[in-house]
Amino acid sequence: MSEQHIFLVGPMGVGKTTVGKQLASLLHRPFVDIDAEIESRCGADIQWIFDMEGEKGFRERESKVLQDIIDSNPSSVIATGGGVVMSAKNRKVLQSSGQVIYLCASKEQLYERMRRDKSRPLLQVEDREQVINKLLEVRDPLYREVADVVFSSEGGSAARVAKVLLDELSKH
Ligand code: S3P
Repeated sequence: MSEQHIFLVGPMGVGKTTVGKQLASLLHRPFVDIDAEIESRCGADIQWIFDMEGEKGFRERESKVLQDIIDSNPSSVIATGGGVVMSAKNRKVLQSSGQVIYLCASKEQLYERMRRDKSRPLLQVEDREQVINKLLEVRDPLYREVADVVFSSEGGSAARVAKVLLDELSKH
């Protein structure tokens, strides 16, 4: 496998962070989570950033952190936030900076995983399923546009999914 960054893209709750950590461990590479990095640089959580700066402010931070991480890290496994693909610039950056995996799951699985979520500002609404559907409708084509590999996260534990994913990646 080539020594480039591996990015995980996909919707909220699909398992980018948990599968990404396992994949990084199998590959003996650093793992970076863009959301966690934004929070640590800002000294505040994502909900606070949305409250203070709006989604626009959050997206600016997200693009900057993405570029910084790409530039400053050795080849790593990088979990992105679900909305990273909304920016055409980010999509270009992802595609030109490594291998991109679209981690996908059924709507039902995403509803279930996000049922009790309290940390994602976009999901703190009455009809969560409707928001998930709407986001998927817009973003699924964008995830596919940037992806080198489309892979389901529904194949068991994160460790198991990462192992099968690694087998798949070694074919590329
Ligand atoms: C978002 C997804 C979140 C986080 C923010 C916005 C989105 O990341 O970046 O709440 O727009 O889908 P996860 O996909 O890691 O939950």
